[in-house]
Amino acid sequence: MKFAKRAQTIEHSLTRELFDKAKNYDNVIDLTLGDPDILPSEKIRKAACDAVIKGQTRYSANAGLPALREAICRCMKKEYQVSFEPNSEVIVTVGGMEALYLSLACILDEGDEVIIQAPYYVNYVQMVRMCGGVPVIINTAEESGFAFTEEQLKNAITDRTAAIIINSPCNPTGVVLGAEILDKIAEIARQNNLFVISDEVYRTLLYDGCRYESIITRPGMKDHTILIDSFSKRFAMTGYRVGYAAASADMVANMAKMQENVAACAPLPSQYAAIAAYNECVEDSFVYETFAKRHEYMVQAINSIEGLYCRRPEGAFYLFVNISSTSLDCVEFAYKLLEAEQVAVVPGIAYGSEYHNYIRIAYTQDLEQLKAAAARITRFMESLK
Ligand SMILES: Cc1ncc(COP(=O)(O)O)c(C=O)c1O
Repeated sequence: MKFAKRAQTIEHSLTRELFDKAKNYDNVIDLTLGDPDILPSEKIRKAACDAVIKGQTRYSANAGLPALREAICRCMKKEYQVSFEPNSEVIVTVGGMEALYLSLACILDEGDEVIIQAPYYVNYVQMVRMCGGVPVIINTAEESGFAFTEEQLKNAITDRTAAIIINSPCNPTGVVLGAEILDKIAEIARQNNLFVISDEVYRTLLYDGCRYESIITRPGMKDHTILIDSFSKRFAMTGYRVGYAAASADMVANMAKMQENVAACAPLPSQYAAIAAYNECVEDSFVYETFAKRHEYMVQAINSIEGLYCRRPEGAFYLFVNISSTSLDCVEFAYKLLEAEQVAVVPGIAYGSEYHNYIRIAYTQDLEQLKAAAARITRFMESLK
């Protein structure tokens, strides 16, 4: 019996490896996964339960319930000032991940290239490979604020480039793409006839007065952009598995064909819960306030530990922490920290091969746990002296 090369070349992520390893400890503080510890609002939970009780549990159209697509378009109009047509320009998916996967499946032929900024959300690289594509990585450095330049982007383009993936706010750095670079990316995409897959799943988790802009608002970009969004982070609905893509009618029609053959549709109780979340676009304030408090605490706590440094992220719920003052490689650091202090973090190389000097901390535990984690990390750092 043989397995396809496709399956053999896909690797488990270091994020999952550390998450699984953490389960072996009985007093562990797990800061690995981007999975909020809080619950969605009661209104959202009740909508899911009601759907189950009422038997609203059959298949929907491949593109999702019309009422959900309408709610999404209303919300996007309010938040982006861009109009989408609910019947043809939006598809509801099994989380943002399936939207990403379907997008890539629709645009990549064998050997086509996709430009990805590092440090990156590791699934981009794996999904591109799963679709027969070739990831082309642009590395960015802390000294330049983990930002890529127009020059780097232009140099990465070849005649095989099909798309650029952008992620703002970024997992793992929290960097938000500013107006200027968005203008440049849009110009390059239009000139080279490229798709921009814009992963905006953290767009509502912004700190320090940071404003969010989407590339979709740039002239002519509705035809070039596949906007990926999710209910997972904004409403703390990770396990509901519901997200969406907004794009041109041609793209959405192709994605719906793929969807029909992969998942048929997103789970129905989750789609009803998503309607409750999105109808007023307001069921997310508790989630935001919770992460804003943790952001304030964690940035200060990590930067006050001797030997550690992280730049202040503008968004999302991660810290990308520089550990270069220690003599440890990130994998060694993560494993030693877990063994010595039962704090689980993710080695930086999970987000790109250059990031040996970093670890990622997800502040997806409550403040008490985060305080305990900071105390344990301090003790660990002292033990290295
Ligand atoms: C950058 C980014 N995009 C997309 C996703 C997918 O989330 P979901 O499939 O739960 O919507 C994640 C989840 O961690 C993420 O970090």
